[in-house]
Amino acid sequence: MSMRKLLPALYHSDREGRLSPETRVIAMSRGGLTDADFRGKVDAEVRDGSESRRVRDEVPAGDAAAWERFLARLHHVSVDVGREDKSGWDALSGMLSGFESRDRVFYLASPPRTFGPFCRELAEAGLVMPRSRVVLEKPLGHDLASAQAINDEVGAIFEERQIFRIDHYLGKETVQNLLVLRFANAFLEPVWNSLWIDHVQITAAETVGTPGRRGYYDHAGALRDMVQNHLLQLLTLTAMEPPARNDREAIRDEKVKVLQALRPIAGTEADRFTVRGQYVAAGDMPGYLDEPGSTPPTEASARVETFTAIRAEIKNWRWAGVPFYLRTGKRMPYRRSEIVVQFKDVPHSIFPGGAPNRLVLRLQPEEGIELHIMAKEPGAGEVTLKPVPMSLSFGKTFTTRVPEAYERLLSDVLAGNPTLFMRRDEVEAAWRWIDPILDAWKADPALPEAYPAGTTGPAGANELLGRSGRAWHEEE
Ligand code: BG6
Repeated sequence: MSMRKLLPALYHSDREGRLSPETRVIAMSRGGLTDADFRGKVDAEVRDGSESRRVRDEVPAGDAAAWERFLARLHHVSVDVGREDKSGWDALSGMLSGFESRDRVFYLASPPRTFGPFCRELAEAGLVMPRSRVVLEKPLGHDLASAQAINDEVGAIFEERQIFRIDHYLGKETVQNLLVLRFANAFLEPVWNSLWIDHVQITAAETVGTPGRRGYYDHAGALRDMVQNHLLQLLTLTAMEPPARNDREAIRDEKVKVLQALRPIAGTEADRFTVRGQYVAAGDMPGYLDEPGSTPPTEASARVETFTAIRAEIKNWRWAGVPFYLRTGKRMPYRRSEIVVQFKDVPHSIFPGGAPNRLVLRLQPEEGIELHIMAKEPGAGEVTLKPVPMSLSFGKTFTTRVPEAYERLLSDVLAGNPTLFMRRDEVEAAWRWIDPILDAWKADPALPEAYPAGTTGPAGANELLGRSGRAWHEEE
């Protein structure tokens, strides 16, 4: 995480002049590294590592000075949470002494069970100041009770205004653009409701599998890993009421209301409204159970879902009767995250062969917005209709570099702006909806449906939409 996302994001912020000259980045691990070791590791892995091509490509000769300046900001202290030996904390105290009135950001990219103990030791070492902030990486717990326990533990040390629960999807340009699209344009709002919208599809499809991640993934699964956070965040932004102000609390208040309005899916309803899948070997791609991992597969591995599709409903005036279909999976044939808003058919058609309008908000691979409208195919004969996309590609329209999600979010943490971070009640409301689905799946003796690696998921996912005459949006 640090090497792949955080350090490249900090480097770009530095290069674009967003870090003050005194900013220091202090890595904490059990690793026993010196500053020089750590800088060498970052130089090798971030600058030259295959994962971080963005940085490598953008540190050509001319930028070598920026890279050297960034490396010089890096330090390392060895801290082992839960040990008698407090020398690491003393070393950190020494480094921070004299900077008590400055902003301090503690970024916890460690397993959630360490969040509470880490914050406690941080406080015992006297390092938490009024201008300190803590960033918590997902997953925040594995159910409502564990999330509440973590929130209580961290909340005993930090005030809510100091806690930044990160969901990197909120840092993606299209996601922020969704709010602008909805609330800075007049034409959408009148049709953004059940009178005009037939359904919404939110997909996060990945081609990657889970090699080396079994330890985590066996206990997470797609529902906890992607739906509880990323997909539900996209759903709230799509469905929320217009906030009165562009203000951290006003926006988050509206998002929580959407989560609270989700119709619960419990017991046998999970059979009708949810689908679980697990990829099996196909071609040269291994199945989930054959993925190389640090631990051999267990009974839990066989039950874990690497794909899920859910038909969600929001019980309020705006959305009554409009299904929100959520879908995410590993080892699908393409990498694509998008929100598709499908409008209803025209009330009365005078042309044969029309298709409903569709608004596609694409988060990746390329960020952009497409509105599919019906047009007449040129020609002198019969009128023939064809859906034509009106598209906005951010990459082509704006020449400025589109920042990575983490870059934007880290800048917001440094600026103390939590709008794009999840408030405690948001996280807990999301778990409150997820928990009954998890319970229903646990009680079900059936295993997830198999789907061959490299395909769009199990047959059940198509049936979920097919029984109401709908289909998943696939690229034409
Ligand atoms: C992470 C999940 O939160 O998001 C991963 O833990 C997933 O399993 C990743 O691969 C997807 O992020 P992105 O930005 O590539 O869609």
